[in-house]
Amino acid sequence: MSGQPKEISSVLLEQRVFPPPPAFSKQAHIQSLEQYRALYDQALADPERYWGDRAREELYWKEPFQTVLDWKPPHARWFVEGKTNLAWNCLDRHLDRHGEKIALLFEGEPGDRRQLSYRELHREVCRFANGLRSLGVRKGDRVGIYLPMVPEAAVAMLACARIGAVHSVVFGGFSAEALHDRLVDAGAKVLITADGGWRKGAVVPLMQNAREAVQGAPSIEQVVVLNRLGQALTLEGREVGWDALVSKQAETCDPEWVESEHPLFILYTSGSTGKPKGVLHTTAGYAVNVSLTTRWCFDLKPEDIYWCTADVGWVTGHSYVVYGPLMNAATTFLYEGAPTHPGPDRFWEMIARYRVSIFYTAPTAIRAFMRLGSEPVLQHDLSSLRVLGSVGEPINPEAWIWYREVVGKGRCPVVDTWWQTETGAIMIAPLPGATPTKPGSATLPLPGVVPEILDAHGQPVPQGKGGHLFLARPVPSMLRTVHGDPDRYVKTYFSEVPGKYFTGDGARQDQDGYFWLMGRVDDVLNVAGHRLGTAEVESALVAHPKVAEAAVVGRPDELKGTAVVAFVTVKKGVAVTAELKKELCQHVQKEIGAIARPDEVRFAEALPKTRSGKIMRRLLRDVAAGKQTTGDTTTLEDFSVLAALRAEEE
Ligand code: WTA
Repeated sequence: MSGQPKEISSVLLEQRVFPPPPAFSKQAHIQSLEQYRALYDQALADPERYWGDRAREELYWKEPFQTVLDWKPPHARWFVEGKTNLAWNCLDRHLDRHGEKIALLFEGEPGDRRQLSYRELHREVCRFANGLRSLGVRKGDRVGIYLPMVPEAAVAMLACARIGAVHSVVFGGFSAEALHDRLVDAGAKVLITADGGWRKGAVVPLMQNAREAVQGAPSIEQVVVLNRLGQALTLEGREVGWDALVSKQAETCDPEWVESEHPLFILYTSGSTGKPKGVLHTTAGYAVNVSLTTRWCFDLKPEDIYWCTADVGWVTGHSYVVYGPLMNAATTFLYEGAPTHPGPDRFWEMIARYRVSIFYTAPTAIRAFMRLGSEPVLQHDLSSLRVLGSVGEPINPEAWIWYREVVGKGRCPVVDTWWQTETGAIMIAPLPGATPTKPGSATLPLPGVVPEILDAHGQPVPQGKGGHLFLARPVPSMLRTVHGDPDRYVKTYFSEVPGKYFTGDGARQDQDGYFWLMGRVDDVLNVAGHRLGTAEVESALVAHPKVAEAAVVGRPDELKGTAVVAFVTVKKGVAVTAELKKELCQHVQKEIGAIARPDEVRFAEALPKTRSGKIMRRLLRDVAAGKQTTGDTTTLEDFSVLAALRAEEE
């Protein structure tokens, strides 16, 4: 959890404080630390009143709610008896005043461009929603979405929300197997995919994966295929083309007014054990907090051009590419491809050309850009930028400073936002006009969020000490359950300390009450900002016919935050070779996706285990990080001596 010892320069950087620029504060939604603190105190003193007010301000309600919160730990129901529709809140309610405003700007990796006004987006969503209804999709049905980052991804999500269907977006980088597992678990009725997408100049074979994935997925009745590549589609059996589906549909579509707690989406995310779990979010609570945090954390204004670089396959794409900006009637920019294709300045060139004013990305991307040097950034006029956001993993102070100085020219507040798939929306982050920032700290909790750092006995740790991060109060945008596995919800999140939500993260608080996130404390790795369960990679490895046992651990990595290291024992008679290492890496990629591909495979005679048979992960982490060696420089590692030394400690 504590990671590697810090460089002295890093420690010094952490102590720097950057107050919000006064001119920025004067125009901001939240203008001072005092204003923030007053809101925080109000929310703490009377959370139901606070959230009730926010809910009335943020959303259009078809029927008002009667009860703000029904909290029977660990289960919360918010805005009970209210009815609303999220697509209505993103589109219809803006049509009178913002109908001609650009809702969505899009650029494909090959350079193709599109833009949709609120009116046009509304029309596309209605037509597609009617199309889904014509396929028999009804309120509560699950719909899988496996698309590239194109406007239709947003259209598909909004169309589901419009008719009360529950979307489950699967990141286009996941393999056919991973998609299959998610579709089966969700019980999806329809899958929406494309013939392909563009990434690093190559086609991502979405269609091929989708065809494999729906084999043996009994719930799937139909597959909608978008033509992204511009070549004629050859469709099979239960496949229907996107254009053919929508061409005959009406341009208006009555929304399904759903209860506040009606499920909105299922999004699969990795946990410390077993298969990824389907995090279930419901409608109103999620919408209220996503809408609010988009405006407050980025100080979003009507004239902003807002770009969050996340893929819609992740929660950041759900909340801060699609729903948050659209609820605020903002202009959101979508880019399909790789950050450095065809050149190292692709991002900066687009920021300059579209006059992007709010830019939200991940530390891994920032570190990768840093490596490329400042030149590609400095070539472009980035004077439109006014807020810079970071999300997904701890940001090291050096990257934070580079982001602020080189990209933001020291003018733009940097907002490091801590949150999770499960929290639905940002929980801990500076408000750019109010909160002084420190490089590497997510700073202070948003009003209504009550984080606590506790030790192994559930007791608060002294200030400055690391511990496990919990959320002590329910927040409207939190997950409601794990789809199909309510026990796992209780076990994963509410059993460490009963009644308090366990985040899986380590953190400490400094003398100013600022939060410093220290990484995962469970068996989840954060690889380039993506969550990966060690158990998932291990089960992929042992599914290989030559593998006997596998243990996967993280190793600190300068670029990706964490690299994946797999320790493997092979079956009797199997030769350990460099080819086998490659074969295993490819196997994991096929089973899960490129993000899970081990950075390193190490063969061992046997895995080090305690007397009770538990794998000694801490020892493996030390070996992977080069802190310990087994003293054996041949291909096979021998852990017996080290294991004996450590057996007592584990
Ligand atoms: C990590 C992404 C430090 C953390 C929104 C969390 C962060 C996990 C930050 C959730 C941050 C996210 N600073 N760590 N600003 N943001 N994390 O579910 O470990 O993909 O538990 O949600 O990412 O990842 P997820």
